[in-house]
Amino acid sequence: MSRSVAILGIQWGDEGKGKIVDMLTEHADAVVRFQGGHNAGHTIVVEDQKTILHLIPSGILHEGVECLIGNGVVLAPDALQEEIEMLDQKGVHVASRLRISPACPLIMPYHILLDQAREQKRGKSAIGTTGRGIGPAYEDKVSRRGLRVGDLFDESYCDERLEQIVDYHNFVLDKYFKCETIDLGRTREFCRYHADKLEPLVADISSRIGALRADGRNILFEGAQGTLLDIDHGTYPFVTSSNTTAGGVCTGSGTGPRDLDHVLGIVKAYTTRVGGGPFPTELSDGVGRHLAERGCEFGATTGRARRCGWLDAVALCHAVRISGVGGLCITKLDVLDGLDEIKICTGYTCDGQAYDPLVMDGRAFERCEPAYETLEGWQQSTSGATALDQLPATARVYLDRIQDLTGVPIELVSTGPDRRHCIINNAIY
Ligand code: GDP
Ligand code: IMO
Ligand code: MG
Repeated sequence: MSRSVAILGIQWGDEGKGKIVDMLTEHADAVVRFQGGHNAGHTIVVEDQKTILHLIPSGILHEGVECLIGNGVVLAPDALQEEIEMLDQKGVHVASRLRISPACPLIMPYHILLDQAREQKRGKSAIGTTGRGIGPAYEDKVSRRGLRVGDLFDESYCDERLEQIVDYHNFVLDKYFKCETIDLGRTREFCRYHADKLEPLVADISSRIGALRADGRNILFEGAQGTLLDIDHGTYPFVTSSNTTAGGVCTGSGTGPRDLDHVLGIVKAYTTRVGGGPFPTELSDGVGRHLAERGCEFGATTGRARRCGWLDAVALCHAVRISGVGGLCITKLDVLDGLDEIKICTGYTCDGQAYDPLVMDGRAFERCEPAYETLEGWQQSTSGATALDQLPATARVYLDRIQDLTGVPIELVSTGPDRRHCIINNAIY
C-alpha cells in the first residue's frame, strides 16, 4: 500500500532534511517539494561526494525516482537551470525525472533586486534573508500580480503582464528604494529563454501524486526551512514567506490531508539559526564555538555562519503540535561528542516569572529567558554509529529525554553526514 511521508524541519532550518530525504528515497518512488524556493540548501553526502540542492528534490540521486515540484514552490528559472547543469555534470540526468507545476510562481530578476533593496533599507532590523527574491515573489503571488510558470508559454499574455508588472516594480525601485531599475526588454528575453527550457518539464503535479498513490507508490514530501521560519507559526517577522509546516504539504502540492500518512520531524540535536531574529538558547561561549566548529555550521546557500545554541524542547512541542509530528529524527548527535554537560530548554522565564508565550512570534521570543535542564555529556565518539547499543549510555539518556519532553518517538538518529550514518530505531518503510 502507498505510504506518503512528510519530512519537515521543526527548528529554524538546516536540520539535515536533505540527508534524511535522500536516505529514505531508497524506499520511495517520488519526492515532492511543496514550498520555499532556492533559499533552501539541502546537503547530501554519498561516499565523500557532497551535493547541495536548492530547488530539485533530494531524491534525485536515486535512479528512477520521480522528482516533483509542486505549486507552492517559488521557482527561479535561472537557478533551476544552474542546478540541472550541475547535476548533469555529475552524471545525474534530471530532465527525464523532474516535473514542475505550471502554477509555481516565478522568481524574476526584479524580485531579487527588491529583496536586496528592502533588506538594505531595514538596516539594523534586517531579516537576514538569503537575498534570493523569495519574499517579493510570494508577495506578488498573494497580491495576484505575479507570473506563474504556465504563463511563460503564452507569449503575448506574458508580454502584456510583464509591461504592467515591470512598470509597478520600477516605480518602487526608483522612487522608494532609489536604486537601479529593470529593463523590460531584457526581462522579456529572460522569459522567452526560460519558457523553452521549462516547457518539457511542466506537468499536473497534483494529478501525478494522485496517480502514484492509486498505484500503491510511496511518496516523500520534502520540507524546506523549518517550523520557526513558518510565515504564520514562526518567529514573525524574522521568518520566510511560506508555510513550512504540515499544512503547506497539502496546499503546496494539491494533496488532501487524508493522503498524508506520517509526519517525520527532523531535529538537530542542538539548535542553529541563520539570519536575524530572537533565539533564546543561543550560545556565544566556547560551547557555541564547539557546536559551530564540529557541526561545520555554515549556510549551504549563502555560506553565512550559523548561530548555535542548546536544544529548545518548548519550541519542539510547538512544532510537534502544529504539524502533527508522529516521529522524530534526531540529527548531528555526533556534534555533541566531547561536551561535559548538555542542556535542554524546558521552559521560559520573563522578568523572573515563568513565561508561556501566546504565540511564538519574534517579540514574544525576544522577552524569553530559557530555563534549562542539565544532562551529563559523553566523551566517546558517536560518529558513524548505526545501532543504539553503539551509543554511550548518557547519549541514550539524552535521546530518551527528548522523547519524553516531546511525547514523540524517535525513529531515526543521524550520526554523520553520509547517507549510511544513521540508526534506524523504527523503520519508516
Ligand atoms: P537541510 O537544509 O535541513 O537539508 O540541512 P543542511 O544541508 O543545510 O545542513 C545540514 C548539514 O549537516 C549538512 O552539511 C549535512 O551534510 C550535515 N549533516 C547532516 N546530518 C549530519 C549528522 O548526523 N552529523 C553530522 N556531523 N553532520 C550531518
Ligand atoms: P533549508 O531548507 C535556514 C532564513 C534566512 C532568513 C529567513 C528569511 O536549507 O533549511 P528568505 O530568503 O527565505 O526570505 O529568508 O529565513 N532561511 C533559512 N535558514 N535554512 C533555510 O533553508 C533557510 N531558508 C531561509 O536566513 O533568516
Ligand atoms: Mg539547509
